[in-house]
Amino acid sequence: MVDTDTFVPEAIAAIEDEIGDANAVIALSGGVDSSVAAALAYEAIGDRLTPVYVDTGLMRKGETAQIRETFSFMESLRVIDAKDRFLEALAGVTDPEEKRKVIGEQFIREFEREALEADADYLVQGTIYPDRIESEGGIKSHHNVGGLPEVVDFEGIVEPVRDLYKDEVREVARHLGLDELVAERMPFPGPGLAVRVIGEVTEEKLAVARDACHVVEAELEEYEPWQALAAVIGKATGVKGDNRVHGWVVSVRSVDSRDGMTARAQELDWETLQRIQSRITGQNENVARVVYDVTHKPPATIEYE
Ligand code: XMP
Repeated sequence: MVDTDTFVPEAIAAIEDEIGDANAVIALSGGVDSSVAAALAYEAIGDRLTPVYVDTGLMRKGETAQIRETFSFMESLRVIDAKDRFLEALAGVTDPEEKRKVIGEQFIREFEREALEADADYLVQGTIYPDRIESEGGIKSHHNVGGLPEVVDFEGIVEPVRDLYKDEVREVARHLGLDELVAERMPFPGPGLAVRVIGEVTEEKLAVARDACHVVEAELEEYEPWQALAAVIGKATGVKGDNRVHGWVVSVRSVDSRDGMTARAQELDWETLQRIQSRITGQNENVARVVYDVTHKPPATIEYE
């Protein structure tokens, strides 16, 4: 486990050393990794850091409002509403890797513009140890690693938490006094809800996934899952009132893990599962079925795409 009393001052000093008098940018995702990286860099260089939050429309319920609140102490925070541009870029794209690529590229375009505006020489990233391992192993194209702005000629990339595991990042978050909500927040994938809807990303599917994820996170809090989520995995027949309907199938997933590289599906009690089912089908009339995913990783991954 990381010794935060020594890690934090050392990390801040290293950032100061590396960036000197220059400007830097960081993309905030709402997750604990980029939040901690941003907080450390802000301690080091203050408002010469421009934290950029791109609202892709693929984020969790209430995420944008929460980001504004958590980082209200950073005067240089920029919040970009890019929802329409992401949806447009994703229209008709069904292949999982292609979706990640489109999202990564659009994200970079948004971020590039802000980096130019901020006259940034350095890029700060919240890359953690498992990100590097998975990317190097070529398991998945994580969009927060490898995809870098091209039109901005950064002098360097600063990754203050690159050697830490997720639980160590959380320790640092608590040490820095970051909002408990941020410190304790479950991991959330860079491409957001796009990997929690199978096939084409549409506003309708996103809304179902977003509301269902919200229910699952709230209902499963007491199980302390490493990650709990819901995904829209297809359509199936159901009955609503007197009619047969062709509605969405929502899959609920809750796993224990240390670092996301392997995971075990959690054993939940029947009442909890039924409560989740009834809230998800109740809040959206177009959901016909809710299923629970009992697959470990491997062979499944945690996300659906
Ligand atoms: P999988 O689905 O590969 O996920 O078992 C392992 C962990 O990584 C998260 N994840 C991502 N994080 N960019 C990210 O920053 C991504 O493209 C991405 N894909 C998956 C996932 O939520 C889980 O915590």
